[in-house]
Amino acid sequence: MQLVIDGIPCTAESGETILQVARRNRIDIPTLCHHDALEGVGACRLCVVAVRAHAEAVDAQVVASCMYAVKDGLQVDTATPEVRRLRQTVLDLLAARCPDAPEIQALRERMGGDAIDYAPAVDGSKCIMCYRCVRACEAIGCNAIAAVNRGPQKEIAPPFFDATQRCIGCGTCAAICPTGHIAVTETPQYREIWSQRFAMAQCAGCGAPFMTEATREHLAGLGKLKPDYFTHCAACRQRDAAARFVRVGT
Ligand code: FES
Repeated sequence: MQLVIDGIPCTAESGETILQVARRNRIDIPTLCHHDALEGVGACRLCVVAVRAHAEAVDAQVVASCMYAVKDGLQVDTATPEVRRLRQTVLDLLAARCPDAPEIQALRERMGGDAIDYAPAVDGSKCIMCYRCVRACEAIGCNAIAAVNRGPQKEIAPPFFDATQRCIGCGTCAAICPTGHIAVTETPQYREIWSQRFAMAQCAGCGAPFMTEATREHLAGLGKLKPDYFTHCAACRQRDAAARFVRVGT
C-alpha cells in the first residue's frame, strides 16, 4: 500500500505502523516508550503525528505513530504546529517528573523548546511509566513486575512489593529502562535488583560473572537445554566460534 509522510511517498506492508514506515524512510519521529523488540503500548505519546485519511481530506486526527497501523492513501504530517506543541507539552511533563534522566535531557536538546530549570522529583523517582520494563519482563516469560497502586502513587514493582519467585535477576528491565530508574547492584558474586539477591554464574573460560544462576536455568528451560548448557560468557563464546571458523577455513 501507499501513503505519504511529510510529502514523501512511502510504500508499506499491511500491519505496519506509521513509525515503522517513517523510520524505514529516514523520517524522524521522537519516541520514548517504544522499543523495536517489544509490542507498542502508546504510553508516552511523544511520537504523535497528524493523519488525514486521504489527500483531499481536511480534518486531521492526532495519533500515536507507534501504535497506528498504516492505511492506503494515508497522509501523515510529523511536525505540524499542533503536533510540535503536543510533543513539547508531553516532554515538559516528563522532564518535570525526572529532569536528570539523560534520555529526557537528550530529547529536550533534540526537540528544542524553552530552557526550564526543573526541580528534582520530590520522591527522587525517575520512572516515567513507559512500561518498557514490564513488557520486557513479560517477553522473556517471567512477568515478575507490574504497575501497582493508582494515581500519583502508581509505580512499577514486584507484586505486593515482595521479592518474587518469578524474578530471575536477569537485569533486562534495568537495561531497557530509558531513564535509569531501576537500581542494580553487582559484585562478582551476586546481583541485587528489586530488593532480591541473585548468585552470579562464572564463565568457565575467563571466570568472569556473566549472568545470574537463575537466568541461566531460565534460559536453558526456555530452549529445552541441559541446565548447565550456558557455561561461557558472550566474549568467550565468540572467541571459540572464531577459532572454529579459522580452523574450518584453513
Ligand atoms: S513512543 Fe509512541 S507512545 Fe511512546
